[in-house]
Amino acid sequence: MTSANNEVRPLTIAVPKGRILKVLAPFLEKAGLGTKNLLADDRRLIRESDDGSVRFLLLKPDDVPTYVEYGVADLGVSGRDVLLERRYDLYQPLDLGIGKCKMVVAGPKNAVVGARPRVATKFSRIATEHFARKGVQAEVIYVGGSVELSPLVGLSDVIVDIVESGATLRENHLHVMEEICDISSVLVANRSLYKLRHQEISPLVEKLAAAVAAQSKS
Ligand code: PRP
Repeated sequence: MTSANNEVRPLTIAVPKGRILKVLAPFLEKAGLGTKNLLADDRRLIRESDDGSVRFLLLKPDDVPTYVEYGVADLGVSGRDVLLERRYDLYQPLDLGIGKCKMVVAGPKNAVVGARPRVATKFSRIATEHFARKGVQAEVIYVGGSVELSPLVGLSDVIVDIVESGATLRENHLHVMEEICDISSVLVANRSLYKLRHQEISPLVEKLAAAVAAQSKS
């Protein structure tokens, strides 16, 4: 991959800013990429591994697959929720086993899901497909966050959202009605760059896989 001035750009990994980055960093360290610079508390959006061999792009989690699909990053770390919702043409060489949570249907204790339930969610496709599989034609209402509010004030009957600790549901008197699927963070790769830069990418993926395997045994 060459940049505008025809220089080969360093191996580039798109990573999500925030919670997941802190959990991801120890795995990058074990794969030989120093993360002091990556974790520095400043506003730079392009950073390098401590030895300068790899470049990181710091992105909103939802944007990671886009940068990888368009080939401005070779690799990225993305939640399965984003990949399921928006369908990208990406290779997924490794489940990192971090950021684990569940996609669920949740609602108030007395929620009645009739023939055409109203479902509030940020995950319109996942929700539509889930209810369609059950033969239910849901009315899916897009909301961008604080989804748990919607059944409390009558915007929807139920929600489709991710649940991690369950605290948000509990504190808003909602409960899980159905589990749709497990979610975790996965390593994604641009399909052509994965082949083109295989010599650089493959050892890194192997080291990350070893770190993930070691973690799952501990
Ligand atoms: C996510 C998700 C739930 C909450 C679940 O929201 O949408 O609201 O986390 O976590 P819990 O089961 O541990 O309580 P996020 O914090 O990303 O904010 P949002 O509501 O703005 O999407």
